[in-house]
Amino acid sequence: MSRSVKALFEPFTFNGLTLANRVVMAPMTRSKSPDGVPGADVAAYYRRRAENEVGLIVTEGTTINHPVSSMDVNIPNFFGPSLEGWRNVVSEVHEAGGKIMPQLWHVGMARNPSAPNAPHPELPSAGPSGLVAPGKKVSEPMSRADVQAVIDAFAKGAADARKIGFDGVEIHGAHGYLIDQFFWAGLNERTDEFGGDMLGREQLGVRVVEAIRREVGHDYPVILRFSQWKQQDYTARLASTPEELGAFLKPLSDAGVDVFHCSTRRFWEPEFEGSSLNLAGWTRKLTGKPTITVGSVGLSGEFIGSFRGESSTATGIDDLLERLDQGEFDLVAVGRALLVDPAWARKIHEGRFDELKAFKPEALATLS
Ligand SMILES: Cc1cc2nc3c(=O)[nH]c(=O)nc-3n(C[C@H](O)[C@H](O)[C@H](O)COP(=O)(O)O)c2cc1C
Repeated sequence: MSRSVKALFEPFTFNGLTLANRVVMAPMTRSKSPDGVPGADVAAYYRRRAENEVGLIVTEGTTINHPVSSMDVNIPNFFGPSLEGWRNVVSEVHEAGGKIMPQLWHVGMARNPSAPNAPHPELPSAGPSGLVAPGKKVSEPMSRADVQAVIDAFAKGAADARKIGFDGVEIHGAHGYLIDQFFWAGLNERTDEFGGDMLGREQLGVRVVEAIRREVGHDYPVILRFSQWKQQDYTARLASTPEELGAFLKPLSDAGVDVFHCSTRRFWEPEFEGSSLNLAGWTRKLTGKPTITVGSVGLSGEFIGSFRGESSTATGIDDLLERLDQGEFDLVAVGRALLVDPAWARKIHEGRFDELKAFKPEALATLS
């Protein structure tokens, strides 16, 4: 490491929320909330990161109040008795001086009803067209009433987040889960106002943002996470050119997104030919809104590989710092490096680079 890390530890303010620095903990599912209720250990897990200079924590995906929003009974819910558990998480993180937002999630057709921990295995899955993969239909398309119920459930989740003291919300619109299943032509064959061209396919996302704004007002931070890649197809893209990306982002931005969380697997990869800007760089340039970059920060290998058993060594972050200095993006999300080491941000700040830890896939089994 040869560059100063100062840029990473400058405060950042958006929509009335001031973060102490630019380090964001990326949302990471843990399936450690029995019956969907986050307990004291979940609060302690997030508190450890807040105590160690993480500027903003985005929680693991937490599922909204809709019958098929979850795919595992141990994934935390964001309704009913789970909210008391979350209230405790918020208070622990705030006591440690941190900021925290829930990632509101509906898994859509990523749900496997025959998986051992699947909640409500008797219920059909939900997705735009009943497709579980391009061309593979397993259920009926979602009815319009069901689409509206999902919109209402996201809005209610955001209202509850505000009520119990969260600093804002992140909407999970990435990685081939429900909102992204609507975005993606590969799974969205609808012919009503929620399908067709990109403007139609993004209506679910737009209406979720609008409904959240109606519930929480304009003075509450709302982040939208989106990705080009899908877990069903790592090469899939929503936009092949900057023009297409701009056209996709504008309705979401106009609906009231404050910050775009641009999910990539390697932050250094250029998004389009002819420029070194990554997805967060292009999104910032096209929308004028702040963005979060993510993907292999501080690690040699990317995260999908880690699910296949690959290890990663700790790396320097000079390239990241240079891009941050140049204003390519505003915030930096860190996943696995913070999973294996709650003190990652503090060590970077204090220049303790030789103490940074490698990522070993065994870490996925403990997630503490
Ligand atoms: C164990 C694990 C669970 C994850 N769960 C989620 C999730 O709930 N929501 C989400 O948007 N991304 C999820 N991700 C993706 C991360 O947020 C992040 O984008 C990815 O790990 C890349 O960052 P990294 O290279 O710093 O780990 C998960 C990643 C890991 C490793």
